[in-house]
Amino acid sequence: MPQVIFLPHEELCPEGKVIEAEAGVSICDVALQHGVEIEHACEKSCACTTCHVVVREGYDSLNEADELEDDMLDKAWGLEPESRLSCQALVGDEDLVVEIPKYTINQVSENH
Ligand code: FES
Repeated sequence: MPQVIFLPHEELCPEGKVIEAEAGVSICDVALQHGVEIEHACEKSCACTTCHVVVREGYDSLNEADELEDDMLDKAWGLEPESRLSCQALVGDEDLVVEIPKYTINQVSENH
């Protein structure tokens, strides 16, 4: 089974987390099932950017982002070439290293 390795995130998983995941499950669900509370404001319907993650390793093993996801991602805080919406990115057959960005748009608009 592929492993999904979450890099440490101050609030969501300060120590980081290594999770055995099944292929075909979204990164967001993998995280939520193991206590890493990635935000998912639109309930995983690809209509927000709060579940944005950056896939540092294994990006190419994911399903491809569709146009809608790309459009949403354009609005995400801290967009990078390996950014994905975690509710749309399905685990493939390789290990993944996932970074959860420090902020989401929701937090940015609340805090600033
Ligand atoms: S939870 Fe809204 S796009 Fe993933």
